Amino acid sequence: MEIEDQDIKAFIDTVKSRSDYDFSNYSDKSLKRRLSKILLDHQLSPGSLLEKVGGDRDFLEQIVKDITVNTTELFRDPQIWHLLRYDILPLYQERSRINIWHPGCSTGQEVFSMMILLNELGLLQKSRIYGTDINEDVLNVARAGVYKYRFNEGYLDNFDSVIRENPHDGNTYFDVPYSRYFQIDKTRDKIQMNRQLYEKPVYKKHDLVGSPNPFDEVYDLIVCRNVIIYFNYELQNKVFKLFLDNMSLGACLLLGVHETILGPFASHFDKKFQAYFKK
Ligand SMILES: C[S@@+](CC[C@H](N)C(=O)[O-])C[C@H]1O[C@@H](n2cnc3c(N)ncnc32)[C@H](O)[C@@H]1O
Repeated sequence: MEIEDQDIKAFIDTVKSRSDYDFSNYSDKSLKRRLSKILLDHQLSPGSLLEKVGGDRDFLEQIVKDITVNTTELFRDPQIWHLLRYDILPLYQERSRINIWHPGCSTGQEVFSMMILLNELGLLQKSRIYGTDINEDVLNVARAGVYKYRFNEGYLDNFDSVIRENPHDGNTYFDVPYSRYFQIDKTRDKIQMNRQLYEKPVYKKHDLVGSPNPFDEVYDLIVCRNVIIYFNYELQNKVFKLFLDNMSLGACLLLGVHETILGPFASHFDKKFQAYFKK
């Protein structure tokens, strides 16, 4: 179903007047793509979508979840995890505590990847891990730590690349069994993360649009990957300010491979190995 710019504006206005959600500063292109898909999936015209969103709070909540893209995977972009393993996390060896925040963590695979890597480096115990997302449903998946096996078989290749192999030395192999971190049940099509991992993080629903720091913490590492790509320049800058204001000196901000800090906040960070360090 074709959706016009004025339909998108009317949608944003209705959602804003009926809830705390504000999509005004989401990127036009991605909002248009998602709303067109929603019209198709629900077999609605733009007018009837507005009517339902305006009159039915549960439906509005559902549409907010449908608008956001939740794609994620274990050790997504393995080269970034190599960077964390060999260049970034070793900088934290001497610290007595490490506060890590994953805004937009979706179903939690990024958080589990971090905990697995921290454990391999002997840093997990002194780390506090926080995960937030605008969508409570994905946080519930993260809390349970259960994933489909067949859909996620590719995870194991990523695990091997980051945890068992060394990109800098082809002869090194770390003999780390999967069972140290998760149990695979092929007949039930299930990967279950181990309890010591899924019980560790603190998860909380949090909207990066206009909300303050969700925890009473200053962060040493913020991993916000593949989230600001859906925001326009203005909202990206607001989010960078939120991060900057709540990072310790020298703390690291890691974005997605297609995301960069442009504009006024770039000068507050040193960019090293595709990561941003607070000056
Ligand atoms: C594509 S996923 C990224 C997951 C993970 N960080 C990764 O890179 O694999 C984007 C996540 O951002 C969340 N998100 C979108 N808008 C948000 C907002 N305003 N506040 C917090 N989270 C948001 C979505 O619900 C979704 O789970």
